[in-house]
Amino acid sequence: MFKLSDEGINFVKKELARYETKRSAIIPCLYRVQKENDGWVSPESVSYLSELMELPEAWINEVLNFYTMFNKKPVGKLHVQVCNNISCCMLGARELTDHLCKTFNVKPEEISEDGKITISKVECLGSCDTAPMMQINDDYHENLTPGSAEKIIKGMLNGN
Ligand code: FES
Repeated sequence: MFKLSDEGINFVKKELARYETKRSAIIPCLYRVQKENDGWVSPESVSYLSELMELPEAWINEVLNFYTMFNKKPVGKLHVQVCNNISCCMLGARELTDHLCKTFNVKPEEISEDGKITISKVECLGSCDTAPMMQINDDYHENLTPGSAEKIIKGMLNGN
C-alpha cells in the first residue's frame, strides 16, 4: 500500500500551510507522490493523498488528468521524454526518438523488458531555442543529436 515517507508527509503539510487554499497545493504534492512512487501516480496514491490533504479525490484527479507531466501509468527507471513539438521536429526530434527506441529496444510509451527505460514523445518542453531536447527524469538535455542523446542515456544507465 502506498504511503509517503516522513519527509514526504512533512512536505505535504508545509505545502498545505503555504497557500491560501488547500487546492493550490495539489500540484507540488502530486509531484512528491510521483517521485516517491517510482515515477508515476497510481489510483491508490491518489486516494492516499486525498486523505492526507483532506481533499476530495475528484479534485486531485482533475489536476492529475490535466497536466501531462504526471504519469498515469508506470514508467521505466529512466523516463526519457523527447520533445516532439515543432521546433524540435524541424531539427530532427522524430528521427532522434526513432533512433533511441531502436537502440534501447523499446516502443514509445512502453517500459523496456529490463524495466530500465521508457521513451515518451511529449509536447513542447519550453526550450525551443536549444532544440532538439529531451527531459530525463528531472533533468533537461539540449542541442541533441541521435548520437549525443544515446551517449547521455547509456551514461545514466551505467551510473555515470
Ligand atoms: S518545440 Fe521542443 S522545446 Fe519547444
